[in-house]
Amino acid sequence: MTNKLFRLKPFNQLMAESKGDSHGLKRSLSAMNLTTLGIGAVIGAGIFVLTGQAAAQYAGPAIVISFIISGLACGFAGLCYAEFASMIPIAGSAYTYSYATLGEFLAWIIGWDLILEYLFAASTVSVGWSGYVVSFLRDLNINLPPQFTGATGTVMVDVPEMGWKALTDSFSQTLAATGINVDSLAHVTCVLNLPAMFIVALLSTLLVIGIRESANFNNIMVITKVSVIILFVAIGFMFIKSINWHPFIPANKVETTPISEYGSLWAWLKAYGAEFGKFGISGILRGAGVIFFAYIGFDAVSTAAQEAKNPQRDMPIGILASLGISTILYILVAIVLTGIVSYTALNVADPVAVGVDAMGKGMFWLRPIVKIAAIAGLSSVILVMLLGQPRIFYTMSKDGLLPPVFSKVHPRFKTPYISTIITGLVAMVIAGILPISILGELVSIGTLLAFIIVCISVLILRKSRPDLHRPFKTPWVPLVPILGASICFLQMVALPLDTWLRLFIWMAIGFCIYFFYGKKHSKLNQ
Ligand code: ALA
Repeated sequence: MTNKLFRLKPFNQLMAESKGDSHGLKRSLSAMNLTTLGIGAVIGAGIFVLTGQAAAQYAGPAIVISFIISGLACGFAGLCYAEFASMIPIAGSAYTYSYATLGEFLAWIIGWDLILEYLFAASTVSVGWSGYVVSFLRDLNINLPPQFTGATGTVMVDVPEMGWKALTDSFSQTLAATGINVDSLAHVTCVLNLPAMFIVALLSTLLVIGIRESANFNNIMVITKVSVIILFVAIGFMFIKSINWHPFIPANKVETTPISEYGSLWAWLKAYGAEFGKFGISGILRGAGVIFFAYIGFDAVSTAAQEAKNPQRDMPIGILASLGISTILYILVAIVLTGIVSYTALNVADPVAVGVDAMGKGMFWLRPIVKIAAIAGLSSVILVMLLGQPRIFYTMSKDGLLPPVFSKVHPRFKTPYISTIITGLVAMVIAGILPISILGELVSIGTLLAFIIVCISVLILRKSRPDLHRPFKTPWVPLVPILGASICFLQMVALPLDTWLRLFIWMAIGFCIYFFYGKKHSKLNQ
């Protein structure tokens, strides 16, 4: 029994599979395509939505430091991914790596966990996409019925000059602070988020049609968003007022008050617990946890390993280049955004647009361009997440842990079309009914867990199979994997208890499926 759970997928079998066969997926992606795929998956809601909120609520201008910390953790994990992706160029990503190192049961758990990253991220970002599209259409005087633009049960209020907005706790406080009485505003309760469902359906259809077509669409979206970000940074630099960076690290009340004023260490700890994350050093850390979401996606490159022309050379390039480029752009945007507008004004759904407004009337032409870039950026994130998930299902099904239908490849399009359709349908339903806040944290916890496992797997495989050929080697082992796993674990610990509970429930469902289906059907039984 125990042996079965911890059986490893033999390495020569993995290598044979990685060579592919004529009935399999099509090898058509270059290093450039893989890098744009990575940038496509990374730059999205994190920068266009979360940066402003994290700066306003937690870190202030020091959100720049939060980006550096989170980027470092992802860099360590990225180096570990690169080693595996060049060594085992199979579509399953962290699932495959753990099948070769930690055994079948843990591999299944990781595969199941990756659904939280890919499928749920697609839904999360499509909710952000819906928000930007609704606001862009409103600027053009096209108003969609509000009851079809939010998660089921969300209450929307019609705010003068702003239009329909979801009535969250923090938005109620903002309204109260500006003297607006919520009860005096028109209300509706949302039924479904139709724009979010629409974009998932559209991109899933594209993914069924072909990997090349999808990669081309992704390239256009990536060029659009990256050019507009560079434009924003270049113009923004001219509007920076250094006063906005003072203080660079806004004070956390408890951190700046001597412990003696609290009477006892216990009283100080209690006060610090209540204030943890509200600016100061702890605010920088919490900011890093929140904007971790912005970095998610570079690992999606590894799910396309079986469609890469030269995976052993190009996988590390795709993973590390996309992560590096995104990190530089993030840090630049954070520097400019907090320099042109006070961080206190950034607690909005479209902080980059607020930054443009702060540049003055002469720059209003940039506003619609920024919104289009955000819509393009979010589209490519959804696309790549919807591309990654079916490829993980494909590999799990090839291994027998999921039914054979998940690995059916379309005879003409050469795509895993059934798993793409199933992924699309589930992502659509989730995007239509759930709010972004619950979804986003689940995505982060699921991804952090996957990163930890990949870092640990590098360590294990270096010990157990030092003889294997590693076209790319993670530098400074064991330091890099240990740092990667530890920082990711700390970020997991910083997430709320509710999110942990949801993770456990999700995993419990995964256990049941493995014991009732996967264990019996595993190809390793043969
Ligand atoms: N990193 C992706 C985003 O920010 C998930 O949208």
